[in-house]
Amino acid sequence: MVTTGIAHRLLDRDAERRVFDRLVEVVRGGRSSVLVVRGEPGIGKTALLDYVVDAAAGFRVARAEGVESEG
Ligand SMILES: Nc1ncnc2c1ncn2[C@@H]1O[C@H](COP(=O)(O)OP(=O)(O)O)[C@@H](O)[C@H]1O
Ligand SMILES: [Mg+2]
Repeated sequence: MVTTGIAHRLLDRDAERRVFDRLVEVVRGGRSSVLVVRGEPGIGKTALLDYVVDAAAGFRVARAEGVESEG
């Protein structure tokens, strides 16, 4: 479990953190993995992604952002 950076600021996300920690472990073991993070605006998706970026120390991280062009 990561205990530095954003982890200190993330409240009430133990289950999600375990999922992300496991994902990083799997990838460190040489396997690829995909996880979709879904939820309403403001629910904390970006905060969780910041957590996994911290947890992925040593990896190259690519981030992209999608914009809804027509509502
Ligand atoms: N688990 C959490 N603990 C504390 N603050 C959080 C948590 N999740 C989100 N936040 C804060 O709530 C706000 C919205 O979160 P954010 O990750 O941007 O949501 P989303 O990406 O789903 O729209 C941000 O200021 C973020 O830092
Ligand atoms: Mg976001």
